[in-house]
Amino acid sequence: MTAGPKSRPKDLRSSRRSRQHGCWDHLVVAPLWVAYGANLGTLLRTCDAVGACMAVPDTSHYRAALARGDTLVRWPHIHWLDRSKLAWIERERVRSVVLGVELAEDATPLTRLEPARNRTVVLLGHEHRGIPEEAWSLMDEVIEIPMVGQGASLNVAVAGSLVLYRLAGLS
Ligand SMILES: C[S@@+](CC[C@H](N)C(=O)[O-])C[C@H]1O[C@@H](n2cnc3c(N)ncnc32)[C@H](O)[C@@H]1O
Repeated sequence: MTAGPKSRPKDLRSSRRSRQHGCWDHLVVAPLWVAYGANLGTLLRTCDAVGACMAVPDTSHYRAALARGDTLVRWPHIHWLDRSKLAWIERERVRSVVLGVELAEDATPLTRLEPARNRTVVLLGHEHRGIPEEAWSLMDEVIEIPMVGQGASLNVAVAGSLVLYRLAGLS
């Protein structure tokens, strides 16, 4: 006879993690065009869960959206961009692999994505317009999440979270 599920520990949080971790600067999610605060808040929680950092423009929109969407005791590390989005990506390319998460011809399917071995920046697109055209030439690779349903795309926070889990080697 196989054993059934064990009972839920009283303090699930402390049983999972003996100490609070910092973010893993090896993995940086960059929702540079994401508009909705709820999506940014969800991505922030995923960053905490997988040990990733987040990079966003230093604007009142992002500061307010992240403050509103925050349900964490302590934020993962946030890189506040001190230059234009495209200039920041260009500079990151010198030391990182830049991945776009997007629906695209010739994209790599999520199932073939390996855990990140080098510093990796993950770009996510706008909820309606996706990743703007001018950023495409700056991406080393595009990752697409296969879909079999009727919807045209996934929610951006869901798409970003699936890719982050994979890159972190946790799924
Ligand atoms: C709602 S989608 C944008 C859809 C937009 N109408 C378009 O055609 O580009 C918002 C973002 O979520 C991500 N996304 C959603 N579904 C995806 C998928 N199946 N594969 C990869 N990225 C996806 C991408 O970053 C995309 O820019």
